[in-house]
Order: sequence, then structure tokens, then C-alpha cells
Amino acid sequence: MDQAVSLRERKAGPIAWSKKSLRIADPQGPLVRVLSVSSGKGGVGKSSIVVNLAVAFAQLGKKVLIMDADLGLANIDVLLGLTPKENIAHVLEGKRQLREVIINGPGGVRIMPASSGVQQLTRLTDEQKLLMLEMLDELESEIDIFLVDTGAGISDTVLYFNLAAQEKIVVITPEPTSLTDAYALIKVLYTRYGERHFRVLANFVEDEKAGKGIFAKISTVADHFLDGISLDYIGSIPRDPNVPRAILQQRPLLHAFPRSAAARAFLSLAERIRKSPPHQNNGNVQFFWKRLLQV
Ligand SMILES: Nc1ncnc2c1ncn2[C@@H]1O[C@H](COP(=O)(O)OP(=O)(O)OP(=O)(O)O)[C@@H](O)[C@H]1O
Ligand SMILES: [Mg+2]
Repeated sequence: MDQAVSLRERKAGPIAWSKKSLRIADPQGPLVRVLSVSSGKGGVGKSSIVVNLAVAFAQLGKKVLIMDADLGLANIDVLLGLTPKENIAHVLEGKRQLREVIINGPGGVRIMPASSGVQQLTRLTDEQKLLMLEMLDELESEIDIFLVDTGAGISDTVLYFNLAAQEKIVVITPEPTSLTDAYALIKVLYTRYGERHFRVLANFVEDEKAGKGIFAKISTVADHFLDGISLDYIGSIPRDPNVPRAILQQRPLLHAFPRSAAARAFLSLAERIRKSPPHQNNGNVQFFWKRLLQV
């Protein structure tokens, strides 16, 4: 199935579901914040950000689940020295329960490996969708923050995960191509799907002033060309040699070099996100999956 077409079709309206699946969508259910981390250009630090933000949230007492939805090479499990044997594809094949493929990472953070299952997720049968939603329903009470590493670019898979997430973090760096590619991602989500709210995080910056400076560039262009767009600057992470050092050790930066400038920046970023409410209050994991699975 052409995924771009099915994304458009989704706007036509939801599939009617049984009472059981409606119960899953109960708006009174526990509130889980679902954040996607994306970028236009690759290699801007998304996976490092997801891992360290997750560990920072865990240090603030939150129960965090990461979903690795990136089909690229340097995945979350590699960054953390984990070797998941199974992933969502095994769940979709009916071989495993979702709970069984989730692995425990450092600091109490849990990881849902997706790999080859990522693309499958965007074209499931109705039965598979219901199965996924039921398994997620069981998990919801165990999660406060759900972080999704979507990968780079504007592939249909990246767009799907962005559309499904309640809060979209777009990572930029001082490199001009990172800005133009981030703008391209924001623009396609705005023009094709009407997405208006984005949070922008600057990585690899020399200092906070530089972070604000590059944000000003993308925000000026977006305000000029995309009517009604809302880009929120959520801060910056400095260029810090301890980030690649921690990756070599396959440990989160916050554990390997807790006093480093970048580690401190991740902690204050988590604090800031915790304090700033999302634009939409449709914050539960089922909502995310329902949007993702188009039910
Ligand atoms: N703040 C930082 N300071 C220094 N190095 C960094 C910083 N953030 C990320 N890096 C380094 O940049 C490289 C790319 O990081 P990472 O793999 O997290 O990016 P990515 O956006 O997930 O890449 P991809 O698009 O390939 O998935 C890694 O070597 C990482 O150590
Ligand atoms: Mg990555």
C-alpha cells in the first residue's frame, strides 16, 4: 500500500471499532506524554538525545519507555550496549507479547526495539491493530514518558511517527544543511498534514546564545512562510566531547560523565519539558498508537 496515500486517507475518518477498543481510548485514562525526536538531516544527535533525555527523566522519577523507530544503523540498543533478540516484528507475527520484547536499560529506562517491525507497523491488518492496542493498554499504567526516536528525513515512516506523537521535538545544529532540512521536515508536516506545533532543540552549540541564534533563523523563515506555525525553542545541548566518549563506553552520558556540560544540559532540558505542558491534551499512549495505526 502506498503509505503517503494511506496517510491522506486517514484524514477521511477513523475505522469503526468494537466497544473494547473504545474503552482503550478512554480520555480519563492515565496521562502519558508522548514525544517524538526527529531531524531533517541525519547525525544531528537524535539517538543520543533520546537516550540521555530518557535517563534524565528517569532521574526525575519518571517511568520512561523509549521506542526505537529508527531504521538507521546506530540504534538506541547499540548506544546502550544492549542486544535485543526480538522486536516488534515478533509481536506482529504473534510469536511474542509486547511486554516480552521490551528490554530494561540503564537507570530503569525501558526500550521497545522496533527495527524491521517499524515499517510493518504502518500497514497492519485490523486484527493486528487491535492486538497491539490491547497489549499497549496493559502497559500504559507503567509509563509516564514515551520517547520515540524516529530517525532522520521525511520518509513516510518518519512522518507517521511525527503525526502520531503528541509533542514533536525537531533537532537542529549550527550546520546550515541541518536548518534547511529541519525546515523541510516541518514544512511537509505543516502543508500536508496541518501540524502547527513543534518544539525545537539545538544540539552541538558552542553556548546557549548560539542555540538561540540558530533557532531565530529557522523560526524567522517558518513564521514568514508558514502561516500560523508555532515553533517553541526548548533549549540547547552544547557540543561536548563527552557525548561520543560515553557512546564508546556504550553508557548514557548522564551515567558516564554526570558532571559534563552536556549531561547538565540534558537534566535541565528534562526539567523544562516536565514543567511545560503539551499543546494538545490528548496525551495517552493509546492515542499515539491509534493515530499511528490509523484506527
Ligand atoms: N552534543 C554533542 N556533542 C558532541 N558530539 C555529539 C553531540 N551530540 C551528538 N554527538 C555525536 O554525534 C554523532 C551522531 O549522534 P547520533 O547517532 O545520536 O545522531 P542521530 O541524529 O541519531 O544520527 P542518525 O540520523 O544517523 O540516526 C555521535 O557520534 C555522537 O556522539
Ligand atoms: Mg539515530
